[in-house]
Amino acid sequence: MTPTLQDSPRQGSYSLGQLGRIFWPYFRPFRRQIIGAVLALVMVAGALLVMGRGLAYLVDEGLSKQDPELLNRAVIATALIALCLAFGSYLRTTLVNQVGEQVLAQIRKALFAHVVGLAPGWFETARTGDILARITTDTAIVQTVMTSTISMAARNLILLVGGLVMLVLSSPKMSLVVLLAVPLVVAPMIVLGRRLRKASRLAQDRLADVSVQAEESVSAMRTVQAFARQGLVRDRFDDAVGGSLDAALARVRLRGLLSGIVIFMVFGGVSAILWVGGQDLLAGKITAGDLSSFVFYAFLVAASTGFLSDLAGELQRAGGAAERIAAMLQADESLPQAAIPRQIDAAHKIACRFEDVSFAYPAATARPAVTNVDFTIGHGERVALVGPSGAGKSTLFHLLLRFYDPGAGRITVGGQDIRDLALDDLRRHIGIVSQDTALFSTSVRDNILFGRPDADGADMVAAAQQAEAHGFITELPQGYDTLVGEKGVRLSGGQRQRLAIARTILRDPGLLLLDEATSALDARSEAAVQAALDNLSRDRTTLVIAHRLATVVRADRILLIDNGRIVATGTHEELIVESPLYRHLADLQFSTPDRQAAPAIEGTG
Ligand SMILES: Nc1ncnc2c1ncn2[C@@H]1O[C@H](COP(=O)(O)OP(=O)(O)OP(=O)(O)O)[C@@H](O)[C@H]1O
Ligand SMILES: [Mg+2]
Repeated sequence: MTPTLQDSPRQGSYSLGQLGRIFWPYFRPFRRQIIGAVLALVMVAGALLVMGRGLAYLVDEGLSKQDPELLNRAVIATALIALCLAFGSYLRTTLVNQVGEQVLAQIRKALFAHVVGLAPGWFETARTGDILARITTDTAIVQTVMTSTISMAARNLILLVGGLVMLVLSSPKMSLVVLLAVPLVVAPMIVLGRRLRKASRLAQDRLADVSVQAEESVSAMRTVQAFARQGLVRDRFDDAVGGSLDAALARVRLRGLLSGIVIFMVFGGVSAILWVGGQDLLAGKITAGDLSSFVFYAFLVAASTGFLSDLAGELQRAGGAAERIAAMLQADESLPQAAIPRQIDAAHKIACRFEDVSFAYPAATARPAVTNVDFTIGHGERVALVGPSGAGKSTLFHLLLRFYDPGAGRITVGGQDIRDLALDDLRRHIGIVSQDTALFSTSVRDNILFGRPDADGADMVAAAQQAEAHGFITELPQGYDTLVGEKGVRLSGGQRQRLAIARTILRDPGLLLLDEATSALDARSEAAVQAALDNLSRDRTTLVIAHRLATVVRADRILLIDNGRIVATGTHEELIVESPLYRHLADLQFSTPDRQAAPAIEGTG
């Protein structure tokens, strides 16, 4: 029930080069902006470096010599440098963030496009909350790091190197003090930084757990409330948040400790320089300007070292996020496609055939769901599938739609092996109405048009009429423009089903797969749904998972499935005589002729 951590999509381990190759294509279109940003960055760093010398000039020439003219000039020069600094910062920030936002959008689109194309098997091992976290949080982390963090890193690197050079140039002796101080600053950063990274990764994982819990409970809210289990999901969510909080607090403590140590080291180093330099100043070996510019550069060097160490942790975090995205971008769970796909000739009454098909779900390879299934459904025939729960009826539908490929045997639709067809082409010819209808949170109209978006209004209404849905739709507050709510929650179960039927009628498939609802509807909507299904299946090859007497009686043929095998075929009358299992099922399921007996325990979603 509660998914575990190892359910999350596989995380690969990628080298930096591999990550670069995967993500560079998204940055390539923005080369010009990136070069511009780099130039702006160099300008900013250069201006900052020059500023130290400006400071020395200001102190020595303007202040010490008490020359107002020189002071004016020094101030103007400083102001000009500041202007450069401001302009460069503006340019860098804008360019970098523009590129970042656009790259983020591109990566998100690519990620989603890839996920949408993955085979259903992949989604059985992935957690929805995790997938969402990848598309939103992880991409955002990568964006931040790829743009602001890297540009900050570059800026600080230039400052560090430039600052060191200026230090050595202005006073080799005092540079020695600085160089001695640097390892003292860096050592705790490396040690604490490593622990910080670990703590960050843990915090990210715990945060993902929070979103998984929230997503799961919210999407099953009606079931949760129907069972009065708000307390349970609240506790579970509280646990997840508690775990996330603990991890975050541990990370915050480390971060605080690190920045405290770094600040102490930096100011300690600067004091040491002031002390050494102050003595030189008193002895008249250097000027006040030299000392102030020296302190300025020392500060730059220390600060950029601090920044860089901080950014290293940040880069590490992004590395993790980038790996998760890359793993998802490269998840290869799609079904093999025919190089030159064949076409289905017939548009209507398509025949299909299972040839000795065996199949086990990827999540349960040891136990086949379907074994040696072999049958043909002729042109326009109406075949009912009957069997106990878990027999493998829905699985046959999944195989026909090619959600999975069988382990052995082959399936043909319209005379073609479905592996030789383009997936979209195959699925365009098949209409499915399943027990759990998925509607979208758009209008009634859009939900019907989902079957064939280019259909005109008249066709759409005609489909709704055939699906016995036009009546209730026109009684809705905004008719066809009424919004149905998330997953169609604002409609009744029977209404949802009739919309799904209208959608399939509009699609006009040549092969129809029906999964009759097991949950009971009230007698009136049941009758309406039944009438809609009858309209839908008229003149089409139909394979129906039957739960009603009316359906099996009218079927041309019944396939009795048990344990993944076809155990008997024939008409209702024949099977009643020949098969004890069928008799038993018929007694259980078809005893009330117009309504299915099983009450809906959980018929709330
Ligand atoms: N995604 C899956 N991964 C692993 N096993 C699965 C999966 N889906 C179904 N199964 C298993 O395959 C078997 C056949 O399932 P299937 O859904 O085809 O049954 P069914 O005949 O449609 O039952 P029902 O009448 O209850 O809908 C069951 O034992 C089920 O547990
Ligand atoms: Mg089923």
